[in-house]
Amino acid sequence: MQTHRWLRTPEGTAPRISYGADYNPDQWPREVWDEDVRLMKEAGVDVVSIAIFSWAKLQPAPGEWDFAWLDDVIDLLHESGIGVDLATATASPPPWLTIAHPEVLPVTADGTVLSQGGRQHWRPTSPVFRRYALELVTKLAERYADHPAIVAWHVNNELGCHNAYDYSDDAARAFRAWLAERYGTVDGLNDAWGTAFWAQRYGSFDEVLPPRVAASFPNPTQQLDFLRFSSDALTDHLVAEREILNRITPDVPVTTNFMIVGDTRHADYAKMAREIDFVSNDHYVTVDRDELAFSAAITSGVARHRPWFLMEHSTSAVNWQPVNRPKRQGELARDSLTHVAHGADAVCFFQWRQSAAGAEKYHSAMVPHAGEDSRLFRDVVALGSALRRLDAVAGSDRAQAEVAILFDWESWWGAELDSHPTELLRYRREALEWWTALTDAGVRVDVVPADADLAGYRLVVAPVLYSVPAPLREALEAFVAGGGHLVATYFSGIVDENDHVWLGGYPGALRELLGVRVEEFRPLWKDEKVALSNGAAGTIWSEPVDVTADGVEVLASYEHEELGAAVTRRTVGDGSATYVSTRLGTDGLAALVPDVLAHAGVHPELPEALRGRVELVSRTGANGRFDFYINRGDDEVRLPEGDYLLGGAALPPRGVAVARR
Ligand code: GLA
Ligand code: GLA
Repeated sequence: MQTHRWLRTPEGTAPRISYGADYNPDQWPREVWDEDVRLMKEAGVDVVSIAIFSWAKLQPAPGEWDFAWLDDVIDLLHESGIGVDLATATASPPPWLTIAHPEVLPVTADGTVLSQGGRQHWRPTSPVFRRYALELVTKLAERYADHPAIVAWHVNNELGCHNAYDYSDDAARAFRAWLAERYGTVDGLNDAWGTAFWAQRYGSFDEVLPPRVAASFPNPTQQLDFLRFSSDALTDHLVAEREILNRITPDVPVTTNFMIVGDTRHADYAKMAREIDFVSNDHYVTVDRDELAFSAAITSGVARHRPWFLMEHSTSAVNWQPVNRPKRQGELARDSLTHVAHGADAVCFFQWRQSAAGAEKYHSAMVPHAGEDSRLFRDVVALGSALRRLDAVAGSDRAQAEVAILFDWESWWGAELDSHPTELLRYRREALEWWTALTDAGVRVDVVPADADLAGYRLVVAPVLYSVPAPLREALEAFVAGGGHLVATYFSGIVDENDHVWLGGYPGALRELLGVRVEEFRPLWKDEKVALSNGAAGTIWSEPVDVTADGVEVLASYEHEELGAAVTRRTVGDGSATYVSTRLGTDGLAALVPDVLAHAGVHPELPEALRGRVELVSRTGANGRFDFYINRGDDEVRLPEGDYLLGGAALPPRGVAVARR
């Protein structure tokens, strides 16, 4: 990351947890704007993101510009004390551009050209798109460089949400250049991709293509490199916009909204985060509330535990799931405050006013179709005042935990490629199950990228750490040698950075550290379970595990004639390396995790009565240390007495209380 820079605000402004939304005044007549601003003040809104999808209005035709309406909006917001996170407006190109230049439209793996008419229909590598986009960015930056309302730049929007994978000729050209940079020579590429297999040897970079639909499984390293390249191509676009912004408005920090949520995995956000001044994330509840907390913790990890900006979430229902239910009472605030617990210093929604037209008219907003006289708007106002009670928290870091889960995009991408032992394996689900089990045990948990400094942790869990290049192996060995406790699961340590198997037996790069050796994987059928001696059951995966080192203890065995040890622990000096050779799921992990924690010397911070019912997250900074207690369930919970900034010892269902320690 560049050095962390937060919102630009006038000197002397007290730090606060900012509050607001995406604001799309261009969808509404002028008179609505005055009402918007009145209601924003009532709700305590102090920041809005504007112009995200305004390209066609700002530039109605090539060479024709209309900034007057945006001048008005920005002035109006400024007079009302509302900061502007100004978008570069490049997210969705206007029809005139794609009609004149159909060559900017993305192409899918099977050759389908995506049409205009939706949004984000542009190739990340199109030089034509880049030229038009940067012209727009330059105009905006020059026009608003000195406007005091601008607190940050919002580059594009959710880079890659719809256009991450483009297989066009532009992409092919850029992919070749990326590969030439990575490998130097075509022989380097041939070695890395293992092209001796299936007559795939390339004579020059010119022969290389993106992994378009092929007659059989495309080369796995080609696929992996295409995933890396596609993430880098989005980052490249981000950097191109950022460079203009930095040159013209060096004092204004730059961000872009990530999508750390659910199965969205097109960008390596740990890497992309290095290119912005502060991390922003968009999160929508998909699976359950633990997924929200887990995503927030990943976001904090890529932000290196500095404050980050929750750029979007929903007040209630979304429009893009098969069935879109409104949030239940209390969830609006709890979801927001969970993000704050994990380091968000700004809480924003998509969007301010619910649209009357367009594809998102059934997506909730801060001002619903029903208007201000609604439960939802009253909840929005109530959250605004709750945030004011947390201003002392603003600027603080998320406090480091003693336990970390490694979260690695490379392993996610690699582990779920095709032609593997099973297609039932899900990287993120395994990591989330560990998150839930550890949280249930009453400890705080960090989620950190694979290049994080592990020194401060007692326990590091590496779920499905499939890809382990030599430096990562060394880092994990050093962690254990230094007295750390490592847990790795099945399908870890299997390949190097080129997706080449570490030979000699699994789990490859981690075999010696774990003191076990596996000759063959034994994935399980879809509904098959294998019983373990500790009463748990494994699904998805099993292995015949041979213990190969002294000092390896078997913590649980398979109750199956062809299988032996299932969970093992090797003691290494003061440290240890535990191997879990099957998917235990949250129930099975519940049986294992307390022992793993105790062995690592990690003591639950929550009293026994609260474990499982409450999530504890802490932040720490100049104003002290703050404990966030999040009620995970539907019953009232009794918390310890304390100095509460928000809520109190009686924690209502789905409530959040914050105490100063
Ligand atoms: C994304 C986009 C927004 C909006 C929301 C709807 O987060 O960035 O423009 O489409 O989804 O949930
Ligand atoms: C076929 C092919 C082989 C190999 C095997 C794998 O038999 O001829 O090259 O791909 O399938 O099962």
